[in-house]
Amino acid sequence: MIFSSRINRRSIPAAVKKVVFDEMAISTRVEELASEISRDYRGRDPMVAGILQGALVFTRDLVKNLSFPVSPDFIRISRYGRQSRTGEVEIVKDLQEDIKGRHVLLIEDIVDTGLTLNYLVRILLERNPASLAICTLLDRTELRLAEVPIEYVGFNVNDEFLIGYGLDYREYYRDLPFVATMNLEVMEQPTGRLTEDS
Ligand code: PRP
Repeated sequence: MIFSSRINRRSIPAAVKKVVFDEMAISTRVEELASEISRDYRGRDPMVAGILQGALVFTRDLVKNLSFPVSPDFIRISRYGRQSRTGEVEIVKDLQEDIKGRHVLLIEDIVDTGLTLNYLVRILLERNPASLAICTLLDRTELRLAEVPIEYVGFNVNDEFLIGYGLDYREYYRDLPFVATMNLEVMEQPTGRLTEDS
């Protein structure tokens, strides 16, 4: 009983239309992916690199479940306009570590058109890693415009706007513990939040 108020402390925001992957589904899938990755990378001392901001939560949970110790590194990029079809990105925070000769596993929250990753992978390959592989929690192949070889996929998703577990709407809702579709009425509000959320 002591904990009940804590559990109920946060209510589901009005922006949430439908929970698509709840905490249990996500943690089960993250554990499965971590087992696969642990098996594939055993003895290779991989470098795990999360792409900020979206992949922060997924990266944290994934490395916790790996069978070997890993200190994740992070890269932050800025896209030159969402309408751009080039996928050109600017690195605004680079990886701390040199990836030359390392086995690099890039972690994403979602791959849509693939343009961002396609561009980023090309930049990173110029640094001569021993290998470079991609793991994404969500894969939306319907929107794919550029080829990206993805080794590990958590879930395939369709073309609905998703929030939670790292995914945002105008920087909101990344902290939700689940992945959900979003109410379109909320998207039309200037702040993206309905008043009852606050
Ligand atoms: C999202 C996601 C990928 C990118 C995928 O990032 O994290 O990096 O979009 O899109 P694409 O496959 O169409 O290129 P976003 O720009 O929303 O930034 P964020 O990670 O900070 O949320």
